[in-house]
Amino acid sequence: MASGAARMLLHVLFARVPIRYRLTVSVGAAGCRRGAGRGKDVEQAVYGFVLVLHLFGVVFWIGGLLMLASLLGRVPEEVGLPKERLLGTIRRLFEVVINLGAAVTIILGVVLIALNPQVITQGWLHLKLLLVAVILFYHVRFYRRIRFLEDNPSASTHREFTVVHGVVSLLLLAILVLAILKPF
Ligand code: HEM
Repeated sequence: MASGAARMLLHVLFARVPIRYRLTVSVGAAGCRRGAGRGKDVEQAVYGFVLVLHLFGVVFWIGGLLMLASLLGRVPEEVGLPKERLLGTIRRLFEVVINLGAAVTIILGVVLIALNPQVITQGWLHLKLLLVAVILFYHVRFYRRIRFLEDNPSASTHREFTVVHGVVSLLLLAILVLAILKPF
């Protein structure tokens, strides 16, 4: 019964996904395996591998932003040296993990477009890139805030970072819907 309902839900969700597009263009610009040559297989494997690394970067970038937003929400509870240490650790994590995740995601996103240029004509990608630009805006603002808090540790509020956490989560959800369901 439950599995029937789940199957029905999947059917409804994915009914609008352009399956042919996903098999031939999304999963690999090389087209379906049947009848495809060795070169096409290699092209498909390269595309798939770049896509995996693109998503690997997304996990570090967005996962890191969400984790640090939660940690920064706790800064007002700390005092003295622990507070300064926490802010220092947060800044170093940002500089290494989050910046690297963002760079990998964006560079490999551009590589994916270069490997499959016709994707740039898709409306979902335009909106997705707009939302990515909003995340980038929050990324830069977030970093500036951390630098500011290092000099003024008492100036943070729990609410501020709860809002950042909520906004980034919603943007991520919207980007995933666009990238996976490709509704237009
Ligand atoms: C928060 C940032 C991002 C998230 C969460 C994200 C997520 C995803 C996901 C889940 C897919 C897999 C779609 C699928 O094949 O089913 C994907 C593919 C892709 N992404 Fe991103 N992405 C992000 C940033 C970017 C950026 C900055 C670019 C371009 C500069 C980009 C370009 C692409 C391209 C071209 C594809 C392949 C589309 C296809 O062939 O169907 N992405 N992304």
